Amino acid sequence: MRKPVTLITGASGEVGYGLIERFAQSGNTDLVALDLKPVPDDLRAMCGSAIAGDILDQNLLQRLISEYEIHAIYHLAALLSTRAEFTPDTAHRVNVEGTLNLINLAHEQSRWHGNPVRFIFPSSIAVYGLPDLPTKRRAGRVRESEWNLPTTMYGCNKCYCEQLGRYYTEYYRQLSAEPQSSGVDFRSVRFPGLISAITLPSGGTSDYAAEMIHCAARGEPYACFVGEDARIPFMVMPDAIKALELLAAAPAEKLSQRVYNVTAFSLSAHELRDRVSKAFPKADITFAPDRKRANIIDTWPADVDDSLATNDWGWQPDYDVDRAFTEYLIPTISKRYEQ
Ligand code: SER
Repeated sequence: MRKPVTLITGASGEVGYGLIERFAQSGNTDLVALDLKPVPDDLRAMCGSAIAGDILDQNLLQRLISEYEIHAIYHLAALLSTRAEFTPDTAHRVNVEGTLNLINLAHEQSRWHGNPVRFIFPSSIAVYGLPDLPTKRRAGRVRESEWNLPTTMYGCNKCYCEQLGRYYTEYYRQLSAEPQSSGVDFRSVRFPGLISAITLPSGGTSDYAAEMIHCAARGEPYACFVGEDARIPFMVMPDAIKALELLAAAPAEKLSQRVYNVTAFSLSAHELRDRVSKAFPKADITFAPDRKRANIIDTWPADVDDSLATNDWGWQPDYDVDRAFTEYLIPTISKRYEQ
């Protein structure tokens, strides 16, 4: 008999790391971790199986279907917004074709075991595209349906995959003689910039926040690649994991839509610098904006309206900005570099 499992793609990335740790804490190790790179030993120890492989490899996906009974998929693998601009074709393959492959795997799995497969998909504030700074200021807290005009390949990929998920869940093969559910229960959160005390992101445009804090803790100088006034919403990793958990556990009838904003606090780069400098008085933080990367941040909203997530599935962040710094980021990062 095949064992019921949860599949996590992009398992070694920063969200994957936090998610697997949380599963392990709650005693769930029926996990299949998939990543392009070999899964590190500490993560591997928390999973039933760990596989190094490519989500574009059909043979690998067929092997997963034959070996496991998959009931939930956390599809975290993606090429982030900065990296995707250098290789847009590859980004499209990984971010869109890879996601379609996983949605099809969910569909096929559901047909085998007869239950819906929950498909949890992190989307991003990168799906928004504000044309200029005055509009960004006026827009304030942006709702899900507003400004869906991404300017990055990554944002376009995420925006389209949200629609793909909605299609598979609500309209799959709607013209067939006897339309049947695809069995895919797609649910997505649009994350703001994420900051982890444990891992550093790679290839994203909101990475300056995590880089600034980690550099200060290591005693290294940091030249921030956006200007002092650049502002986007952020969230610390424990809240990002909480959002995924809450959305995955929400009863289907509570969901009025498939894609939800979530956020915790909005911060400008100079407010971030001030908080980091207060915690690490010797921090050497300067601003050396890279105009092109800074422009991407300027197209993302200064804040998002996450009231639908609150109303539908009880979303509330545990960490506002004060608590994020004093109880999570500063103590955890300081301890990490002391060792
Ligand atoms: N953090 C991501 C990036 O910067 C956005 O989701 O690409």
